[in-house]
Amino acid sequence: MLDKLKTIKTSFQQDIAAAADLEQWEAMRVKYLGRKSQLSEVMSMMKTLSAEQKRDIGKQANEVRLYLEAVLEDMRNALEAKGAHANQIDVTRPGVKTTAGHLHPLTRVEDEIKRIFLSMNFSVVEGPEVETEHYNFDALNIPANHPAREMWDTFWVKPGSKTAGAPRNLLRTHTSPMQIRYMEKHTPPFQIIVPGRVFRYEATDASHEINFYQMEGLMVGPDVSLANFKYIIEEFFKEFFNDPDMQFRFRPSYFPFVEPGVEVDIKRKGDSKWLEVMGAGMVHRNVLKAVGYDPNIVQGFAFGMGTDRLAMLKYKIPDIRFFYNGDLRFIKQFKK
Ligand code: DAH
Repeated sequence: MLDKLKTIKTSFQQDIAAAADLEQWEAMRVKYLGRKSQLSEVMSMMKTLSAEQKRDIGKQANEVRLYLEAVLEDMRNALEAKGAHANQIDVTRPGVKTTAGHLHPLTRVEDEIKRIFLSMNFSVVEGPEVETEHYNFDALNIPANHPAREMWDTFWVKPGSKTAGAPRNLLRTHTSPMQIRYMEKHTPPFQIIVPGRVFRYEATDASHEINFYQMEGLMVGPDVSLANFKYIIEEFFKEFFNDPDMQFRFRPSYFPFVEPGVEVDIKRKGDSKWLEVMGAGMVHRNVLKAVGYDPNIVQGFAFGMGTDRLAMLKYKIPDIRFFYNGDLRFIKQFKK
C-alpha cells in the first residue's frame, strides 16, 4: 500500500504538469481526489489493517492527500490568473452590484409638497435666485431703511455698474419676491406655489444655514379669505405628515407684506410641544395695489415655509447642515 501511495504521487506529478486549462484541472482533481480515485481506494482498504499499520499508512495517505490538495490549489490559482478562465462565464458567481443614485431627501420632500398642492389645483412656478432689491424688498412693502429689513440678513451682489441709483441685486432672502413677479403678469383668480433656494447672511448652527429651501404659496381672487387659507393649509399638513388628527394653532404675527399676519403651529400625534411651521397672512393692500390690483375687488392669502424644516420634522433630522455637507452616509438613508 505504501508503494501504491508512491505511484499515486508520481503519476499525479506527471499528469498535473499537462493540465492546461480549468477543465483539465477539474478532470485531474476528480481522478486523484474523487470518490473513485486510487487514493480513496487505499483509504477504504485501511479497515483491513491492524491498528499499528493503520496509524502508519493512514499518516502517509493523509500526507499524500494534503500534498495533492495543495498542488491542485496552486495550480488552479495559476490557471485562473493566466486567464484560462477568461472566456468562460461562471453563472453561479454572485453578481457585482452597481450603485445607482437616488433623489436627495430635500428633493423628495419638495416633490411631496408639490404633489399635495397640485392635487388642490395649485400651479408650480419658479423665480430667479439673484433678485433685485425691488422684488425682494420694496414691492413687498419693505422699503429701504425700514426696520423690518433686519428680519432678513442679506447677501448683496457686487454692483456691475457704479452709477448712483442703479438697482441693487442680492441673493433672494425668501421666495416671496415671486409673488410680485407672478401677480404683475397674471390676472386673478389663481393659486400658485413657489419652491426655491434662498440665502441668508447668517452664522450657521443646527437650525440655520446660509442657504436653504422654501415653499411659497399665494392664492388670489374675489373673496379669498383667511378661512380658505386655514382649510387648505390644514389639509396640506395632515396629508404631509399623514396625521389626520393633528392640532393647529394660528398665532398673530408680523410680516410687512401681509395684514393680518399669522404664524402656524402644529402638534402631531406624539409631539409634546407646538412646532412652528410657517408664516402666512392676507396679502397686504399695499402689495396688491403695487401690482395694479384693486384690493376692494380681489384679496389673497400668502404663506411661506421652510422645506428643510419640514424635512427635519418628518424624518427626525437633528441638524440642517446634514443636507448640505455631502456625507453619503446621511444621504443614502433616504433611498426609497
Ligand atoms: N418670506 C417669509 C420669510 O422668509 C415667510 C413668509 C411669511 C412668507 C408670511 C409669506 C407670508 O408669504 O405671508 O421669513
